Amino acid sequence: MTHLQGWQADFCGGRPVSPNNKLMSTYRKITMKKVLIAAAAATLMLPTAAMAERDGLTVYNTKCGVCHASGAAGAPKVGDAADWGARATQGMDTLLATAKKGKGAMPPSGLCMDCNDNELKSAIQYMIDNSK
Ligand code: HEC
Repeated sequence: MTHLQGWQADFCGGRPVSPNNKLMSTYRKITMKKVLIAAAAATLMLPTAAMAERDGLTVYNTKCGVCHASGAAGAPKVGDAADWGARATQGMDTLLATAKKGKGAMPPSGLCMDCNDNELKSAIQYMIDNSK
């Protein structure tokens, strides 16, 4: 036993061999980093649809209301039944396509760059429902 310990001590540069030696803790740190990176990557790869979607009111309040609450820049104002009524006759698919593309003073997606189609639709529906 004495002989073996001496050999181990030499082999490891004089440090006693134990699971807590520096190599082991470095290895553990690297493994931990890999786990963290993998977890972060997994989060980033989640499709937008898997995250909680904001409802129409939330998107409207945080994004669209800037223009659509007051009618700024000629935006159809929420509550203006005539303006929204006329636009609503185009149907949701057309309204969504227009909103995504932008129109006149309306910037693409109403500047909600992280809005998905459902969120934009909910916001449009919210504005139509509150303009009748
Ligand atoms: C910077 C101001 C601004 C913001 C922010 C904005 N809009 Fe608009 N929006 C406009 C203007 C201006 C128009 C009128 C465009 C026209 O008819 O020339 C408009 C028109 C629309 C229309 C009608 C398009 C049509 O076919 O007549 C929809 C739908 C719409 N916006 C949806 C949205 C949604 C949804 C949001 C939020 C995600 C939003 N807008 C944010 C300015 C804005």
